[in-house]
Amino acid sequence: MTADLPASQISHAPLAGVIGMPIAHSRSPRLHGHWLAHYGLAGHYVPIPVMPEHLAEVLRVLPRAGFVGANVTIPHKEAVLTLADTVTDRAALIGAANTLIFRPDGKIHADNTDGYGFVANLRQNAPDWQPSLGPAAVIGAGGAARAVVASLLDCGVRELRIANRTRLRAEQIKAEFGARLVVYDWAHLGNMLEGATTVVNATSLGMQGKQPLRFPLDALSPDALVTDLVYTPLMTPFLNEAAARGCRVVDGLGMLLHQAAPGFERWFGQRPEVDDQARQVVQG
Ligand code: ATR
Repeated sequence: MTADLPASQISHAPLAGVIGMPIAHSRSPRLHGHWLAHYGLAGHYVPIPVMPEHLAEVLRVLPRAGFVGANVTIPHKEAVLTLADTVTDRAALIGAANTLIFRPDGKIHADNTDGYGFVANLRQNAPDWQPSLGPAAVIGAGGAARAVVASLLDCGVRELRIANRTRLRAEQIKAEFGARLVVYDWAHLGNMLEGATTVVNATSLGMQGKQPLRFPLDALSPDALVTDLVYTPLMTPFLNEAAARGCRVVDGLGMLLHQAAPGFERWFGQRPEVDDQARQVVQG
């Protein structure tokens, strides 16, 4: 509710935003704007369209223009790692950052909260979920999959199966993340479901306008927790099929909400709640 603040305070209101290209359709400004209004905090969160060749320059300028940090999205998530002064271990391991903190001394700190958002979403919507109970199956090996893999290993998953259309990317993740990973063949995706207790679609298949993710689910146990990183639509064909088999399913919207919370807290000083209201705002 910055409109009601005296001018002196508005000039000091912290600024944050999301850096990407294209950025017009990002839902982050709506979410952060909602939280700012909800908690009555001074601050603004704006979309910041930046071409790759201008990223370094923009990152140098933003802290001098009142920005306390930013989210980073496609296509800059990898490039910011080379431009930041400090990078958290998890961001380095994932190979991408989505949250920047601009320190008072001008230094840029880069973190990745995607994995945190992924796990927080599951913990919120499936409180009984026990990651160490059995193997996890991750479909996909892009940037989002890397964050999911890192967070599942952190949670104590003992065997993590991964398959990707381009097998080499899955092999690369195994090479980096270690012995708990087993690469499965894309042509026999159904095999990775045998005994799996956590199943994740980390590809973009199932997104509005794309083909659905379809493969034999005969080996899918009704005890498995199934989740999808795609959140448009909320219930993807894959989640619908899993639900029809009796599985607990969790949609991907909560990951988007939870990954935003740590940044908001660092920039604006309040840990925001991920509740139904926040979900509605982002969907609206
Ligand atoms: P993100 O950062 O969202 O993970 P990404 O790095 O482009 O985006 O990864 C997209 C994922 O969806 C990859 O696993 C990709 O498979 P490839 O590595 O083989 O490209 C997967 N994907 C996208 N379209 C696909 C399709 N038509 N069939 C199978 N997998 C697909």
